[in-house]
Amino acid sequence: MAGVTDSSRGGFSNKIGFILAAAGSAVGLGNIWKFPFEVADGGGGAFVMMYLCFCFLLCFPVMMAEIAIGRKTNKNAVGAFSANGHKNWSWVGKMGVLSGALILSFYNVVAGWALGFAIEMFSGNFELGKNFGDFVGNWQLNLSFSTVFMFLTIYIVMKGVSGGIEKASKILMPSLLFLILSLMGYALTQDGAWSGVEFYLIPDFSEITFEVAFSAMGQAFFSLSLGMGALITYGSYVGKKDNIAQSTAMILLTDVGIAFIAGLMMFAFIYSQGLQGSGGGAGLIFTVLPSAFESLGPLLGRIIGGSFFVLLSFAALTSTVSLLEVPVAYVVDEFEIRRNRAVWLVGGVVFALGIPSMLGNGTVDFFTNFMTYSSGKTVSFMDFIENLASDTFLPLGGFFISIYTAWIWRGDNFKKEVEQGNPGFSKSFIGNYTIFALKYMAPIILGAITIVTIFNKFL
Ligand code: PFF
Repeated sequence: MAGVTDSSRGGFSNKIGFILAAAGSAVGLGNIWKFPFEVADGGGGAFVMMYLCFCFLLCFPVMMAEIAIGRKTNKNAVGAFSANGHKNWSWVGKMGVLSGALILSFYNVVAGWALGFAIEMFSGNFELGKNFGDFVGNWQLNLSFSTVFMFLTIYIVMKGVSGGIEKASKILMPSLLFLILSLMGYALTQDGAWSGVEFYLIPDFSEITFEVAFSAMGQAFFSLSLGMGALITYGSYVGKKDNIAQSTAMILLTDVGIAFIAGLMMFAFIYSQGLQGSGGGAGLIFTVLPSAFESLGPLLGRIIGGSFFVLLSFAALTSTVSLLEVPVAYVVDEFEIRRNRAVWLVGGVVFALGIPSMLGNGTVDFFTNFMTYSSGKTVSFMDFIENLASDTFLPLGGFFISIYTAWIWRGDNFKKEVEQGNPGFSKSFIGNYTIFALKYMAPIILGAITIVTIFNKFL
């Protein structure tokens, strides 16, 4: 993210800088922590199939739209709409700011778990998986880890040292991928693993409901960091000669690829350990992986287990930086507060907002059983914020960004923007498809699923 946090509006030093930063934002807890338990809750293969369709058919055009809006206007998520002459659309950016703050509030708590698990795995505490409930119920411990994590995020966003993070990610991201691939290979050799692969890959069409589609859609947006203007902000640093379609494809393939492999690894482990149907929820990877690491032997288990959670924490950090950047950029521009102050202010508010999520895992009953939906399901404060921000606000943001791009800014202007760095785009199949998707598909599908589910689930 070189330059993103500089006070002078620099640009990415090169194209790969942008791709790394955007992929860094995309790849995170969403791929490795959230994706597997969403798949488990959503009935397996049917969820995966819907998720892939959303990513490639809808999120690809929306991602291009966000990047193009950012590059065109050189502004943050809120300012971009005003700068483009549509001030009355800037509330879409404001909704993004709110989503970013809400998502970061619980994301930071889970990132704290990853940090805690790294330490515990290095020290060989493989029993932790069985005692996950006690771990998350220990609020002092969680408060410490999430404080550390928020400080790290604040430090990076404040100092604008994300260039260093980007450089580190050139080594650490491939290491994470390598580790997941190796673990996947190992998992597949375990007894019973292939039943997990079947559950993961073979869709049971009877599982497809509006509610499952809603979660798959939310997951696609969350995982790709879409719908809240993070990529508008990042896009504002992209050079005019860069090929937006190609960069989008690379970011998307990296993100989906990592989630897909992580899912394979997880379901092979879940089934080989006989944990299917145990409804792991947000604790899934934290309960399943420690015993998988233990099976590698005491020394290797510690090294691999500890490294896995360190790399996961790093992946989370490149995402929290982008989550914090969106509200900070807004506060700096809108209220003319100095950047350093804004970072502390927003970071502090978001951290406080995360405390109920931290306490809602058994510590305080009110936050643990926070709300009962009309479907009868009782959820914790953290689940509620996640349902609200990532499953509802992000696709809704995508819905408005699509309408804005295709109908307000207009398809021709969007095409003109993308043409720079990608001559021939307008007449290509991808170009025509993108416009069609932004004009009709995204508004209809995203709108319909969101509205139907809100009525069915929440009201
Ligand atoms: N995409 C991140 C993940 O999958 O972990 C989460 C995220 C980051 C969502 C940034 C939204 C965002 F703007």
